[in-house]
Amino acid sequence: MIREAVRLYKGKARLVRSAVRGDPVSRVLNLPRGQAGYDRYEDVRAAGDLVRGPSGLYMTASHALCGKVLRSPEFGAVPTTVSKRTLRPVGGSGRLVHPLDDSFASVDPPEHGRLRKIVAPAFTPQAMRAQEEFVTGVVEEELDRLAGASTADLIGEFAVRVPSRVICEMLGMPVADHELFVRWGIEFGAIVDGARTPGEVRRTRKLLTEMASYFSDLCDRRAADPGEDLVSRMVRATEAGEMTREGLVATCEALLIGGFVTTANIIGNAVVGLFDEPEQHQRFLADPAGLAATLVEETLRLDAPAQYSVRIVRTPTTLAGQDLAAGSPIVTLLAGANRDPEVFADPHRLDLGRHNPHDHLSFAAGIHYCIGASLARLEGRIALAALFARYPDLRIAGRVRYCPSRVIRGPQYLPVRT
Ligand code: HEM
Repeated sequence: MIREAVRLYKGKARLVRSAVRGDPVSRVLNLPRGQAGYDRYEDVRAAGDLVRGPSGLYMTASHALCGKVLRSPEFGAVPTTVSKRTLRPVGGSGRLVHPLDDSFASVDPPEHGRLRKIVAPAFTPQAMRAQEEFVTGVVEEELDRLAGASTADLIGEFAVRVPSRVICEMLGMPVADHELFVRWGIEFGAIVDGARTPGEVRRTRKLLTEMASYFSDLCDRRAADPGEDLVSRMVRATEAGEMTREGLVATCEALLIGGFVTTANIIGNAVVGLFDEPEQHQRFLADPAGLAATLVEETLRLDAPAQYSVRIVRTPTTLAGQDLAAGSPIVTLLAGANRDPEVFADPHRLDLGRHNPHDHLSFAAGIHYCIGASLARLEGRIALAALFARYPDLRIAGRVRYCPSRVIRGPQYLPVRT
């Protein structure tokens, strides 16, 4: 444990030293949690299309290069930087599972496609059309709850509740455990880019222990009493030998967390974005239903809920004129690519008249393109249209607090007056 702590502190100290010296890659990696990284992404862009940090990690904010890395089979998925120690359960033996490292999110072809196919039927356009009515009903119910409250936290009282109720319904999970899931979402957001101190290692192990135990029990219950939900479908696939038990638990976790944390951020980021741009706010209020889909895309572009993703070089290759060794990690700054002036005019502004907001990379690209993208778009569109139609006088009523994460970008607390 002491050796591990020394290793973590040495790594952290090296990072801080090179960040202080002005290395743009280290400055992004050393970003205080919860702080916007957009200025630092611009420093990476100014340093070149592909920038190498002192540890050998590459980073790009170029839209073209991010797209190329995400789409090319030369670059593979990579587990997050969770150490082996983190994956030992608290007070037990064996190994914990991690929602991203152990689900299909971190697997390369052909395994990736085989596993993704098990859950893909729940996210087809037809399946999404079938969800529309349910989502609308949930949104209206949640807006009713806001009525009469002079001030409310728009995130806790609305933005998180809508997608978490929807994903609970899809997975066949008890919505009564909602508070627990919200806490997991916040804690996971804070450690998703790796544990860097002994305290973070401890918190990660505790969180993974708790989630694994919850989902293990849930899967056992579904095995004994199956339904038509997504967890039951995955349990059947596991019984048929198509998925490991570890993969099953990890995929349940990934769908739950992925299913509401980032989606809630579309709503929070859109509201903050509109209040930052009074002209666009007025424009939106004139036609919330007609402009909601555009607001969702433009918000995804301007404030990517998942700010970056990571790939690893599979075989030695040349990229942007640099020779990369196998095993080199590359951080694709999705949020930086979304503000690339080569692709987006006046990129730092929210503009509902933009001709190409869909060209953002907020759902990544290639084989790992977000499986829940259509669901997130559907929820964001319905929620934002209904929120502003019902409460056109909505106002921000205090200081906005952001999610304490480097990867996940969105308000965690957004006080509003309806
Ligand atoms: C605004 C909402 C969302 C954003 C911004 C988002 C973002 C992303 C991104 C960037 C990736 C690719 C990660 C990588 O390539 O390393 C991804 C993959 C994934 N997302 Fe989402 N996501 C959102 C909503 C959802 C929802 C609603 C679900 C599930 C219900 C979900 C489940 C997943 C899963 C399972 C993957 C892994 C896909 C694969 O590896 O094939 N996400 N998401």
